[in-house]
Amino acid sequence: MESLNTLIVQVINSRTLITATLSQLRSKGEVTYTKVQVKPVELKGKLHYQFAYYTGPKVEHRNIPAEEAAEEMMSLLRATFRQALLCTVEADYQVLISKKYKVSILTKSASKQEAPDLAHNRKKQYVLDEGEPVPFLVELGIMNSEGKVLAKKYDKFRQINRFLEMVEDVLADLPAGRPLTIVDFGCGKSYLTFALYHYLAVRERRELNIVGLDLKADVIEHCSQLAAKLGYSQLRFLVGDIADYNELDQVDMVVTLHACDTATDAALEKAVRWGASVILSVPCCQHELFNQIENDVLSPLLSHGILKERFSALATDAIRAKLLDLMGYRSQLLEFIDMEHTPKNILIRAVKSTGGDNAAKWREYCAFRDFLGAKPYLERVCADLLPVETTAQS
Ligand SMILES: C[S@@+](CC[C@H](N)C(=O)[O-])C[C@H]1O[C@@H](n2cnc3c(N)ncnc32)[C@H](O)[C@@H]1O
Repeated sequence: MESLNTLIVQVINSRTLITATLSQLRSKGEVTYTKVQVKPVELKGKLHYQFAYYTGPKVEHRNIPAEEAAEEMMSLLRATFRQALLCTVEADYQVLISKKYKVSILTKSASKQEAPDLAHNRKKQYVLDEGEPVPFLVELGIMNSEGKVLAKKYDKFRQINRFLEMVEDVLADLPAGRPLTIVDFGCGKSYLTFALYHYLAVRERRELNIVGLDLKADVIEHCSQLAAKLGYSQLRFLVGDIADYNELDQVDMVVTLHACDTATDAALEKAVRWGASVILSVPCCQHELFNQIENDVLSPLLSHGILKERFSALATDAIRAKLLDLMGYRSQLLEFIDMEHTPKNILIRAVKSTGGDNAAKWREYCAFRDFLGAKPYLERVCADLLPVETTAQS
């Protein structure tokens, strides 16, 4: 084991280690982890090594200071694993340890050409890691079977991860101790629906009932087949129009990603009537207000089509957030993904709350709506849930 210790100390001290994978259990009797992956990360300006301890589909991460990393790897190789692959800038080392601790080290040319980019690692601490094949991402053609994200699918991968970060942030707002019911309205090819299922059922081990709904029968048929292939038994896909969807009485979370124009509002109405604990909605192509807005003061802005379009979209989301607040939610508008990747980058996150001074909120809302001359869909369809004056003013 001395030669192995020397090698590990050397690749750590010279900062040439890109990844290490420790595998093949010494004894299956006391299975702790089935595999451990190691990679360098920079934390607060200091080199650390991130150890990912896998037990079946579950993974636990620990960031260990560089000076302790060699000892942690060696203690895992003494007690738990008989195989290691160390990929460094200079070479790959295939390590085999016999039952009697005889070590053989095979040196091959480097399979990973790049030096470890620590800043890069630090920036991309995704919920779903690249390098670890995730079945639904492989099936959807985002990763290959080795877990490598396809170059042209990187934006989608980033988007899915960003969405899962948002879900992670609201986990505490969802009911605990019972199955969760979730609806993805306008699910399309259902990247998010599958991601939600993977994250909640496989990683968080929650009991689920997830429904993806869309108008397109062929897309829904394809998603249903994929769910069956992946064994995602608590995930169903249905063909239908959001506004007509009446199957469920109680839903805990509603999500929409780029549901066109007022389809987002139809989804928000459903969510509010169900009293969903959480709403995550990224709107898209808001056309409704574009044809309604009239305001002489704003004429320098509204006379330019492109500005009017963007302003209408922003005003629509401001109206949605205020109406959700008025109907018992605490809403926030967050950047979903950098503008660089998509202009459809605002996410409405609304969490059920105990409410507040609705009279003041309502006055503020009405003043804004009337200033713009807007007659928003969401206000019309939720008139019975809003302060009484609504019916008189809308
Ligand atoms: C831009 S795609 C987004 C699909 C998916 N959420 C995604 O981000 O990949 C919008 C989807 O919403 C669906 N859609 C639009 N209006 C709808 C409605 N009223 N009811 C159900 N689905 C609707 C469309 O069929 C389309 O698949």
